[in-house]
Amino acid sequence: MTSLPRLHLGTGNPGKLREYQAILGELGHEFLPLSAPEPEETAPDLDGNARLKASFYARHAGALTLAEDAGLVVPSLGGLPGVISARFSDCEVDTSTGRVLSYRASGRPREALDEANRHRLLQLLSAHEGDARRASFQVVIALAAPDGAILFTARGEAHGRILREPRGLGGFGYDALFSGDETDGLTFAEVDPARKNAVSHRRKALELIRRWMREHPQVR
Ligand code: IMP
Repeated sequence: MTSLPRLHLGTGNPGKLREYQAILGELGHEFLPLSAPEPEETAPDLDGNARLKASFYARHAGALTLAEDAGLVVPSLGGLPGVISARFSDCEVDTSTGRVLSYRASGRPREALDEANRHRLLQLLSAHEGDARRASFQVVIALAAPDGAILFTARGEAHGRILREPRGLGGFGYDALFSGDETDGLTFAEVDPARKNAVSHRRKALELIRRWMREHPQVR
């Protein structure tokens, strides 16, 4: 079996970092977290932001680098919070179209922002029942060469529904509100991290990255 090259990982999110550590470890990839300030997410979708982040971090490291953009997509809210998941509570939105009308950074620390984002989601869904509470976590992971060129992108999705109140203490972001189809209705914050990592959007995309790397052994 050919050994897999070492990958750098661009993320400033400790929750994501823990999951990459566990999943890449299982998949047999050595990786190095990068500490660089996060670039601004200026693209209109997950794919564009994953590409710009991977390019930015790869040039910073001068090495083969992964970066992702992820979000929670709720079809009954026009796809929101989607690409603005991380800053949902700082945005004014139109939930019938999913359009972002304005954004003002509150400067709150990550934990406080996550809490406000969950609260906002529950408020917007308060009158929604049944299928109107369906949701998916989506991620695009991009692999960039040391010069910043994008070599490959992979998408992963995990489906479930949004509960009326948080359950569980693990995970990060919207995990405590997300009852997963593949976790028997338990939230991603209630299950053991290994159970989330076995079925998550991130796991599915990383499996595709690993497959691509095996098919392109010349990429180092
Ligand atoms: P970004 O990819 O840095 O733009 O951030 C995505 C945001 O989506 C995070 O801050 C979380 O709020 C949310 N998110 C993405 N993936 C997950 C996940 O696996 N669990 C819970 N929330 C997530």
